[in-house]
Amino acid sequence: QDKRESLYVLSQWAGKWFRNTLWETEAGRSIGLSYFKERGYREDIIQKFELGYSPDQWTQLIEEAKKAGFQDEYLLDIGLAIQRDDKSLYDRFRGRVIFPIHNLTGRIIGFGGRTLKTEKSTPKYVNSPESEIYHKSDVLYGLNFAKKAVMDADLCYLVEGYADVIAMHQAGVENVVSSSGTSLTTGQIKLISRFTKNVVILYDGDAAGIKASLRGTDMLLEEGLNVKVLLFPDGNDPDSYAKQVGSAAFKAYIEKHQEDFIFYKTRILLKDAQQDPIKRAEVIREVVTSISLIPDEIKVSIFIKQCSTLLDIQERVLLTELNKIRINRA
Ligand code: UTP
Ligand code: MN
Ligand code: MN
Ligand code: MN
Ligand code: MN
Repeated sequence: QDKRESLYVLSQWAGKWFRNTLWETEAGRSIGLSYFKERGYREDIIQKFELGYSPDQWTQLIEEAKKAGFQDEYLLDIGLAIQRDDKSLYDRFRGRVIFPIHNLTGRIIGFGGRTLKTEKSTPKYVNSPESEIYHKSDVLYGLNFAKKAVMDADLCYLVEGYADVIAMHQAGVENVVSSSGTSLTTGQIKLISRFTKNVVILYDGDAAGIKASLRGTDMLLEEGLNVKVLLFPDGNDPDSYAKQVGSAAFKAYIEKHQEDFIFYKTRILLKDAQQDPIKRAEVIREVVTSISLIPDEIKVSIFIKQCSTLLDIQERVLLTELNKIRINRA
């Protein structure tokens, strides 16, 4: 289709413009590039991920895009420009560092822009809206860079953020993708499962990350994937933790601390339940509910056995519960 192709071409052009602005302009170098360097990103990594900068100007990108022959309509369609009530346009990403989002073949389909301000009132990231070439729920950030490593390792690390993907590449771990935020979708899971059935969730070690890891686990199990989980200490995310301990210690940590979902979930839930028998019963039910989502009966039976040992409940009781949950769902 002609229009879609034009949108790809415009995205490619904008990506290049953001990149040039980062490397070739005074503001780009002193603000954008220094920001990435302060975060510890190497130049080859900044190049590889095609990171960029949008100057703190309302219309510079728009004017240059017009000069290059792109129509307003297209700038609006892929959300590079936003329209005011009086119909005038301004740059969505102005004053932000830019993380281009690529499709599987490596073409740019959207952008994430991070603010350089620290006040809480500014949203940390703004992202391209849905468009004819960008369907957020069917995209995993970094998959174009990761797919070969994912197949080679037969394993995919799943993280929350753009910065986490980039930091892990820099640490030498390339089989990593991000759901760009915490709510994983079925489309994203289907995408992963084209390359591997083994996923390790590495979400942020904060309350939101824990909650999302439990929900993500259930969704992955339901699609038949094998799931392990690892959270970083003290609210860290993969990026901040890699920076804190260095590449070698980071790699050792993720090798050593990933836990099978059933141990992870039981541990997290039991922490809240303590010795309260009613709460413990609820934990057991929740763990069995996760197991009940697994499509493979052999795995189900193995996990029920593990669960029986782990929670010190007879297998027979767990199987009765499992059947009840299945009947209620049907
Ligand atoms: P986080 O809040 O964990 O940010 O959101 P981060 O990735 O650690 O960002 P840095 O390290 O401070 O730069 C995780 C992901 O959620 C999405 C982004 O994709 C982000 O990478 N997000 C977050 C947004 O889209 N908008 C936001 O305002 C915040
Ligand atoms: Mn869509
Ligand atoms: Mn977070
Ligand atoms: Mn984070
Ligand atoms: Mn972070």
